[in-house]
Amino acid sequence: MRRPRPIHTVIEPFRIKSVEPIRMTTPEERERKIVEADYNVFLLDARDVLIDLLTDSGTGAMSAGQWAGIMRGDESYAGSDSFYRFRDAVQDITGLKHVIPTHQGRAAEKILFTTVCRPGDVIPNNTHFDTTRANIEFTGATALDLPGAAGKDLSSRAPFKGDMDVEALDRLLADPPGRIPLCMITVTNNSGGGQPVSMANIRAVAEVCRKHEVPLYLDACRFAENAYFIQQREDGYGETPLIDIAREMFSFADGATMSAKKDGMANIGGFLATNDDVLAAQEKDLLILTEGFPTYGGLAGRDLEAVAIGLYEALDPDYQRYRIASTAYLGKHISDHGVPIVQPPGGHAIYIDAAGMLPHIPPLEFPGISLTVELYREAGIRGVEIGSVMFGAKDPETGEPVPARSELVRLAIPRRVYTQSHVDYVVEAILNVYDRRQEMGGYRITYEPPFLRHFSAKFEPIG
Ligand code: F0G
Repeated sequence: MRRPRPIHTVIEPFRIKSVEPIRMTTPEERERKIVEADYNVFLLDARDVLIDLLTDSGTGAMSAGQWAGIMRGDESYAGSDSFYRFRDAVQDITGLKHVIPTHQGRAAEKILFTTVCRPGDVIPNNTHFDTTRANIEFTGATALDLPGAAGKDLSSRAPFKGDMDVEALDRLLADPPGRIPLCMITVTNNSGGGQPVSMANIRAVAEVCRKHEVPLYLDACRFAENAYFIQQREDGYGETPLIDIAREMFSFADGATMSAKKDGMANIGGFLATNDDVLAAQEKDLLILTEGFPTYGGLAGRDLEAVAIGLYEALDPDYQRYRIASTAYLGKHISDHGVPIVQPPGGHAIYIDAAGMLPHIPPLEFPGISLTVELYREAGIRGVEIGSVMFGAKDPETGEPVPARSELVRLAIPRRVYTQSHVDYVVEAILNVYDRRQEMGGYRITYEPPFLRHFSAKFEPIG
């Protein structure tokens, strides 16, 4: 028989059964809306956004299988069948002993760090996500980022720029400035550009942690995307099924926090998992206080079903191939025209280097805000600043603002939601904005809350 000629186009590996209309807006309307939102895209109404790339969290489309699971949801208060299906799925993939459901990732973080941290403690991570950092700092502990050297160079095309600096971790654990109740690795490294962490790095970090008797936790939000990158890029994993790669990643961990709004493929949900019996008991006590009974943890039975099914769907090789190809397509088409992005494209998002694109706007005039505003004006696209608004600090002595390490704008891709023509529209809009970048100016803050200021800060253009 003649072998068919291979077809290289990567297609969306699904058909569309249910559609959600997008409301078209005019440039005049968008101008009015962005002024009303005080130039903060978090304050826009979703109905005024055409392509919403604010986050890949909880914004995905569920499968027919998940919707079927939702109908089966057992809403019993205690010991529901849905909980056991959820627990079994999490244990099957992570191998972790105690599975504590939470309504989302930060609820797991809040319970974990409230239980293990005291003032003066230090929690190292490759790079903490903003809610992780805030939950650690809220206990009086310090959240310390130890990214590897490759991760600090935005344009390097190293395959595993999410890796942690193992030597720096070893030095820290050998001579700690405070108690270190646990070490974390975030897969993929969201705040570090959505970059993956290699199995070799997870293994090396785990060895250092064992040597110093410090438990290792995975912030596992995008564990399946990370597993796909390991399969594609790391020697020895090319033929290994994604689920086995995921199992090996978790085999190095003593616990995990998870937002199932990412690679749980669900609209809500998460979990905290641990092998430590004593800790698990304390965590469940706190869970009852803040989230709910340990067999539902702030979720409906139907949500537990959606996550139990979604965790496996995220490990489907056809899905990951399309997912990562679609993100890479966006990255390639804008970077080929000169738009500076974090290279190589990450799993869930493209990160535009706003400082590189707008060198005439100083970091403390927020080039990332300028770019998010312009993308909305141009085409109704909503991205998010990951720069000095989100991660800027204040000098403890002078009180002067200190800029973040980089000024990025993240365009996060919801799972299974947008098609290739949506991505083409985004490419065209970004290139239009890029062509008139010289006309763009900076912003100043007119209002900011004490924590996580990016969500509700207000801005005005300078000049
Ligand atoms: N850890 C990482 C790496 C995350 O990306 C997030 C959420 C969380 C923890 C917290 O999970 O939202 O369920 O409470 N990231 C979203 C984002 C919000 O847009 O990147 P959550």
